[in-house]
Amino acid sequence: MSRTTGRGKAAWALAFATILVWGWPVSQAGSETDKTYVGSEACGECHETEYESFKTYSKKAHSYESIRVMKKGLTEAEFVTCFECHTTGHRKAGGFRSEHETPELKDAGCEVCHGPGSLHVESQEPDDINGDLTAKDCETCHNSDRVAAFDYKPLIYGGAH
Ligand code: HEC
Ligand code: HEC
Ligand code: HEC
Ligand code: HEC
Repeated sequence: MSRTTGRGKAAWALAFATILVWGWPVSQAGSETDKTYVGSEACGECHETEYESFKTYSKKAHSYESIRVMKKGLTEAEFVTCFECHTTGHRKAGGFRSEHETPELKDAGCEVCHGPGSLHVESQEPDDINGDLTAKDCETCHNSDRVAAFDYKPLIYGGAH
């Protein structure tokens, strides 16, 4: 009897040690929640072509300027509502907070379409970034209220690179 108890204890100790070393299993599977935002410039180190094209042609690359010039006519609370679409990852883990705290995220960057890139920047694995985009990835900002007819098909490469 004492042997089974001893083994039981050992098993628990091992399970506990495993959790200490590897983290709670749930958070491992849900790595989506561990991804944070890094800003477009970090992507440019490896994707120079996309980065240069984005900086040069996409309106998103200047989307903070669009709201900044209108700030005077808005209350602070109204101004904050613009962040959801005109900045990167506002109210999400590691996302935009303010122009001064997170300047690298002040425009709507690569990650508004491709999702938070911290894990992919480390691993360089295509699987760690969203490369397979659909209209759903645009609709949070290009919603029907704002854009009467947002036709995804001709626009899929528009506003990107
Ligand atoms: C350290 C280098 C590096 C950085 C930094 C980097 N990537 Fe990548 N990325 C890669 C490599 C390598 C691939 C795989 C290329 C291939 O298979 O042809 C890739 C592939 C991709 C793909 C295609 C994924 C697919 O499903 O095929 C996308 C989209 C992408 N990266 C976006 C980004 C974004 C957005 C950022 C910034 C958040 C970024 N990358 C930062 C190296 C990098
Ligand atoms: C986080 C919000 C957000 C998401 C997600 C988003 N966009 Fe945008 N997009 C904007 C904003 C904001 C502008 C306007 C920027 C400005 O002019 O200040 C814009 C502008 C555009 C434009 C105008 C032309 C140009 O050169 O920029 C196109 C086209 C576009 N987006 C396509 C897309 C597509 C396609 C997707 C999905 C794959 C997408 N967007 C996802 C916020 C977003
Ligand atoms: C729900 C998402 C969303 C919110 C919130 C939002 N915008 Fe936009 N805004 C967009 C999109 C998408 C476009 C691009 C429309 C297009 O080109 O089809 C845009 C375009 C603009 C433009 C035109 C830029 C240009 O010259 O091309 C201005 C200015 C602007 N927004 C200001 C604001 C201000 C100020 C706020 C806050 C009061 C705000 N937006 C809130 C999504 C949003
Ligand atoms: C408006 C949304 C949008 C933005 C912003 C955006 N991309 Fe993309 N990206 C796309 C789309 C759409 C594809 C094509 C995916 C497909 O074929 O389904 C793509 C594909 C890619 C690929 C795969 C290779 C290729 O060119 O097809 C890479 C790498 C990539 N993007 C990097 C970036 C980087 C780096 C930035 C920022 C500098 C960025 N993207 C910004 C929408 C976007």
